[in-house]
Amino acid sequence: MTGFTRIAIVVAASLGAVALASAQDAPKGDTANGKRIYLADGCFTCHGRAGQGGAYNGPAPILAHTALPFDGFKNQLRNPADDMPAFSTAVLSDQDVADIYAFVQTLPGPTAAKDIAILNN
Ligand code: HEC
Repeated sequence: MTGFTRIAIVVAASLGAVALASAQDAPKGDTANGKRIYLADGCFTCHGRAGQGGAYNGPAPILAHTALPFDGFKNQLRNPADDMPAFSTAVLSDQDVADIYAFVQTLPGPTAAKDIAILNN
């Protein structure tokens, strides 16, 4: 699959999810449990401890303050767009996904270049 096709699918999936999101808000999440699962299930190995994103075969997107609606977020876990491994309900319940979703909203994300001292010498 070309990079463009992959991006087109992710965009299409996200747009579809936006339409659904207005009908269904994210369930309440427990950020402490979300953090535990984010670390235990290895999300951090690709998406970073600060949710800053990283690299796998292609880019692993920034998750901090994700703009994805809950349904789009969950759909990526159940049916990943491309290279990400799937997380079925057998290993990650819908409540676990809600907890991770709540947790990533609290993550700082990448640091701006202007805030990294060594880059400003
Ligand atoms: C082995 C690396 C890897 C692991 C582990 C991983 N991801 Fe991903 N993730 C990716 C990649 C690469 C993508 C880009 C789309 C794709 O390849 O499916 C992605 C995409 C996403 C997206 C879509 C983000 C967007 O803005 O489009 C979400 C949400 C997500 N991952 C959440 C998670 C969560 C939560 C976990 C842990 C339960 C996790 N990922 C574990 C590599 C990973």
